[in-house]
Amino acid sequence: MMNVNSEKCVGCGICVKDCFIKCIELVDEKAKINSVTCMKCGHCIAVCPKGAVSTDEYNMEEVRDYNEAEFKIESDTLLNFIKFRRTIRQFKDKDVETEKLLKIIEAGRFTQTGTNAQNVSYIVVKDNIEQLKEMALENLKDRGEEILKNLNPKTVPFKRYAQMWIKMYNEYKENPKLNDKLFFNAPALILVVSDSQVNGALASSNMELMTNAQGLGTFFSGFFAMAAQGNEKIRELLGLEGNKEIVTCMVIGYPNVKYVRTVPRKDASILWK
Ligand SMILES: Cc1cc2nc3c(=O)[nH]c(=O)nc-3n(C[C@H](O)[C@H](O)[C@H](O)COP(=O)(O)O)c2cc1C
Repeated sequence: MMNVNSEKCVGCGICVKDCFIKCIELVDEKAKINSVTCMKCGHCIAVCPKGAVSTDEYNMEEVRDYNEAEFKIESDTLLNFIKFRRTIRQFKDKDVETEKLLKIIEAGRFTQTGTNAQNVSYIVVKDNIEQLKEMALENLKDRGEEILKNLNPKTVPFKRYAQMWIKMYNEYKENPKLNDKLFFNAPALILVVSDSQVNGALASSNMELMTNAQGLGTFFSGFFAMAAQGNEKIRELLGLEGNKEIVTCMVIGYPNVKYVRTVPRKDASILWK
């Protein structure tokens, strides 16, 4: 339920103007919120100059007043940070602290979701990483064998991947520690789970930035996400139910590689209309 403190509210109407679904009105010069139609986006809490709006559904203690020193980031610094980020596939043999993993998840939690659904959840994998790795590699190998058995114009583009997955599995079986081409011996995973691909992917992108900001490295394992798709054994181990899907698998650890410059990219394809 959204609450307006009538002693603090001065009836300025700023919240009324900013409410996108128009569920706030001024009654006797005080804001009145229709909690039924409200989607709890919190804009009224954030915009009120008097701090008159609150909710009993979320923790109000985590709401912070803006101050430039702590909240502002220079655009050039942000762009450089984005340009310098790299996929990390070389990790130190060092555990990742729980506080750092929680901070990465916090970056996901505060990422926007369509209709403020907040339908993204997280699975942290540390203890079961070896078991999961083996299950996923086996699944990829099976997929690879299936593709090679049934080569047709539709599956030919995947031949290269099929061969790669079979090789990954065989080499892993020969020497699991030396030949881990799935998680590269990283100590932790965060699986970003959602029934919305867009919401999960947006959260993942911010989470990657937070991973890097804490001196950690990560890569998104598309291979794992694919192996987990429809795999009942993996879903059961992870406790995945219903229409929840793994949108991304973030493989996380301390980088054992140092990049010293950014990389070039294709020019942006832009249409100005
Ligand atoms: C959706 C997605 C899935 C990916 N899957 C894998 C993967 O399974 N294994 C891997 O080693 N890298 C994976 N990557 C990393 C890409 O190969 C990498 O982002 C790309 O080569 C560009 O390198 P950069 O991230 O350093 O800019 C994935 C990246 C994305 C965005």
